[in-house]
Amino acid sequence: MNIPHRAGLENFPPYRQGKAPQAVDGLEAFKLSSNENPYPPLPSVVEAVTGAVSSINLYPEIAAEELRGAIASRWEVSPDNIALGAGSVEVASQIILAVSNPGDQVMFAWRSFEAYPLLATTAGAEPQPIALTGEGGHDLPAMAAAVTPKTRVIFLCNPNNPTGTVLKAAAVDSFISSVPEDVLIVLDEAYVHFNRDADTAVGIEMFRKYPNVAVLHTFSKAYGLAGLRLGYAIASPGLVTNLQKVAVPFGVTSLAQQAGLASLCAEDELQERIDVLVTERRRVHDALAAAGLPVLPSEANFLWLDSRGQTAALAAIFEDNALSVRVFPNEGIRITIGSPAANNRILDAARQAAALLAPQH
Ligand SMILES: Cc1ncc(COP(=O)(O)O)c(C=O)c1O
Repeated sequence: MNIPHRAGLENFPPYRQGKAPQAVDGLEAFKLSSNENPYPPLPSVVEAVTGAVSSINLYPEIAAEELRGAIASRWEVSPDNIALGAGSVEVASQIILAVSNPGDQVMFAWRSFEAYPLLATTAGAEPQPIALTGEGGHDLPAMAAAVTPKTRVIFLCNPNNPTGTVLKAAAVDSFISSVPEDVLIVLDEAYVHFNRDADTAVGIEMFRKYPNVAVLHTFSKAYGLAGLRLGYAIASPGLVTNLQKVAVPFGVTSLAQQAGLASLCAEDELQERIDVLVTERRRVHDALAAAGLPVLPSEANFLWLDSRGQTAALAAIFEDNALSVRVFPNEGIRITIGSPAANNRILDAARQAAALLAPQH
């Protein structure tokens, strides 16, 4: 006899992982579809993880006091303001579970991080996607106007995945002021380290200013720990307490805790790598723009091609160049900035694409 499953689950799309590149004779393949860091872990991080391996017969420390303390000092907040998760995607899930009742609404810009609608739906909440502006940014006035009495949490993704656009401080200030104070606003700053916009909204500043703001950070991107799964929220102590209640117990492993601590001690070294990626982002952006491709300015570790009807033709060129990129049919293509060799290959593909494309923008 078949066990009945939760109603409607057959209609839930699973999370789509970035594709692996296809092999092409004579070309090294590069995966540029998941916004991963091309650098291997720092030796000090490898050493910390290796040192912790001999005790993986024991459960991790659930309160993770040392790591929460270190993150708290980094941001000059209290450890009571820090909630951890197995990646910031798990913390986002905790937030929705802690804040919304079944049938409540979770708002986000669209297109944005693909997990938002999935996390909302699995929590029994209703996703409230609000279309991006024509320039790929959050339409904050439309978002403010769309708030209903059921809207419990609003994700603002800064810089936005996949478009790379930045939310300006003044715009976010007026948005927060125009939204009811009992709606939680989450500034998802997964790509914050790559953001060099002088006028950007800064999550920690918004958190200090407004009691209904929480910030999401991850060790996956700039710190290169995607495989270990570690992220955190900076939030009010009341919210942190409830996030811990809905978290999967022991979700943050002892290896992740040690790697996180070692990374916080190596921020200068990590910064050098981040700076290279930002320089590379600018180089690739400028070359794509010069080749006539519809690339948006980006403050993240990826670029967005606003390729619309030409998406399939462009995607085929990247594939033929042994590059996997994130393709959104008829919308656009997100390309992660990789190693200089991978980035040079993007430029090879761009030259081929330029020859093929008719001007459209
Ligand atoms: C905007 C945004 N937030 C959160 C995440 C989740 O990252 P992680 O769960 O690895 O911390 C991602 C990952 O791609 C992202 O793009």
